[in-house]
Amino acid sequence: MEKILVLDFGGQYDLLIARRVRENGVFAEIRPYNKITLEEIKEAGYKGVIFTGGPNSVCGEGAPRYDGDILSLGVPVLGICYGHQLIAYMAGGTVESARSASEYGKTEVRFGASPLFEGVPGKSVCWMSHTDYVSKTPAGFEVTAETDGCPCAAMADESRRIYGVQFHPEVTHTEYGKLILRNFLFGVCGCAGDWKMDDFIEKTVGKYREELKGKKILCALSGGVDSSVAAVLMHRAVGDALTCVFVDHGLLRKDEGDDVERVFRERFNMKLVRVNAEERFLAKLKGVREPEKKRRIIGEEFIRVFEDESRALGKTDYLVQGTIYPDIVESGKGDASAIKSHHNVGGLPSVMDFEGIVEPLKELFKDEVREVGLKLGIPEKLVMRQPFPGPGLAVRIIGDITKEKADTLRAADAIFREELEAAGVKVSQYFAVLTDTQSVGVMGDARTYGHTVALRAVTTDDFMTADWARVPYGVLEAASRRITNEVGTINRVVYDITSKPPATVEWE
Ligand code: XMP
Repeated sequence: MEKILVLDFGGQYDLLIARRVRENGVFAEIRPYNKITLEEIKEAGYKGVIFTGGPNSVCGEGAPRYDGDILSLGVPVLGICYGHQLIAYMAGGTVESARSASEYGKTEVRFGASPLFEGVPGKSVCWMSHTDYVSKTPAGFEVTAETDGCPCAAMADESRRIYGVQFHPEVTHTEYGKLILRNFLFGVCGCAGDWKMDDFIEKTVGKYREELKGKKILCALSGGVDSSVAAVLMHRAVGDALTCVFVDHGLLRKDEGDDVERVFRERFNMKLVRVNAEERFLAKLKGVREPEKKRRIIGEEFIRVFEDESRALGKTDYLVQGTIYPDIVESGKGDASAIKSHHNVGGLPSVMDFEGIVEPLKELFKDEVREVGLKLGIPEKLVMRQPFPGPGLAVRIIGDITKEKADTLRAADAIFREELEAAGVKVSQYFAVLTDTQSVGVMGDARTYGHTVALRAVTTDDFMTADWARVPYGVLEAASRRITNEVGTINRVVYDITSKPPATVEWE
């Protein structure tokens, strides 16, 4: 399979670069610059290498630089932003830092002739974000683009097929960015663009059918997109050798547990053990108000329940996990400033005795996972659904959790979702939160003292930042009316109009 190496120098757009490459049917792999040797690069037979951007200054002490003569490997290289400056530095050019040369935002770039710019007009808008610039082009390189502030906005050594661009072709603000990347992949690297999801399914199924012959396999199913797709894919490979354990912690949305069970049992005829552990979880959570403590308790209890169930099933050899590519890339970076400990079932292997872990989706992006899911015949409703946190409604019930509160929230949340969906409102995530506030209301002639529910709907591309959704008043009104009429203990509904930052998507 043809592959492109995205060599990561700490840029914020490395995932995006890989995504753009894959959109063209070429497989891209991201590796930190200091975690792959020249030998490994040679061995892997990459069709091309892309150096990403990065926050450092090439000349600064401790700046990330590739250790090895990668430019003489004979493999085409494209350097982006920091990567462009690094190429200049490595090839003997000069990089300088000057406030006066710094450019940020949309900038007009004038292009010269180069295979990289085939089909790009003489002038167009590109996204710039830099203070350092290449002040002297290295020997063998020619300047192929410039701006008013930047004498070397792009350069090329055609004989060695090495290219650098100061701007970011991967972001949509660069008008011809996609074309430039395509030119690199097909024109320069000679890729064929034959990476397809069908091939992925066929290859993965074939590989595991062979590798796991005669083995017993277990999958922890959460009902979320990733674990569902991983389970169905593995079922196709190993059939009844796979048992899925679905732990229902009692903090799922309305009908969710039954829906998951129906899909896997009836549609796919898979071996599924559903554990109804509501009482067990609620007992552990009793009186706990602190969000991170809730997450910890749920994560730990999840492992305990899973252990009990798998012990009851007898020895299993392999555990399937729905890890996806961004999980791996993100954990490789080690996020020291985590704001919330996002619980998934990642803690399992350390406490259990398996021969190995199978992560069939670990090379895929979320939308690729969805594509695989649809191709495998998983219903669209499940594959395309909004994210739902592992600890479920526990982090949407502010303060202590009781069964009564969970039932109340489930009812309100279902109504809000129904109303939004019926009105065809497209947002990234939407749900109800049971606040810890009670307030006075009036019903008929009587005073009430009931719960306040908050509705939350956000639009976002990546969930790192988000905006509150401008849901039409009519939809909010219908949801509010129905919630206060149909859910007995709620007498007040508010709508959250905070973006992220400063708030987060979830309230806890
Ligand atoms: P925040 O609240 O951090 O949410 O802005 C960003 C996205 O992450 C989801 N989220 C979680 N997912 N376990 C999860 O699996 C968690 O503990 C958790 N907390 C937040 C949230 O729903 C949103 O999609």
